[in-house]
Amino acid sequence: MMKRIKILDKEFELSLPAAKVQKRIREIAEEISNDLKDKDPLFIGILNGSFIFAADIFKKMSIDARITFLKLESYQGTESSGRVEQLIGLNVDIKGMNIVILEDIVDTGTTLQATINLLVGYEPASIRVVTLLFKPDSCKNDIHMDYIGFNIPDNFVVGYGLDYKGFGRGYEDIYSLVNEG
Ligand code: IMP
Repeated sequence: MMKRIKILDKEFELSLPAAKVQKRIREIAEEISNDLKDKDPLFIGILNGSFIFAADIFKKMSIDARITFLKLESYQGTESSGRVEQLIGLNVDIKGMNIVILEDIVDTGTTLQATINLLVGYEPASIRVVTLLFKPDSCKNDIHMDYIGFNIPDNFVVGYGLDYKGFGRGYEDIYSLVNEG
């Protein structure tokens, strides 16, 4: 495991080692499996960042479940309204289903809030939210999250699916930006 990495012009230092991430994922998968027994849940992974987290948590579930993915983009110029466009949309009718949203990181919470607003419109029976990482100091939206992997400081992170300008997603550990100067 490398202590420091460089991506493009930025340096990052080890923040959450893979073993710690995997341990927490096993714990959360067990909790979700218990909470959603007999509920026939549908997981919805939010692309791109959650693809690795979604795969890992899904493999650790002890109940059978289904999974699909959504790729969203905020409407240009209306970020504050929190409306999103579906770049890869839902291909399943989720009406009456028990939904589990899988997010990689919740920063301001705008993306998650917009995702919830979108899904509520399809009238699922319930929506639960899982995020691997949460930045409590930067979250501007009052959103209930059911399962949080780690609360982290308001600093930019990469690795384990998360990118800096498209790079750095493949690291198994999570790294945080080293502030220059
Ligand atoms: P939010 O809408 O501000 O909560 O931001 C959510 C999205 O911004 C995430 O799904 C990520 O794609 C991206 N993001 C926020 N913080 C970080 C970070 O520290 N590293 C990488 N991507 C981030």
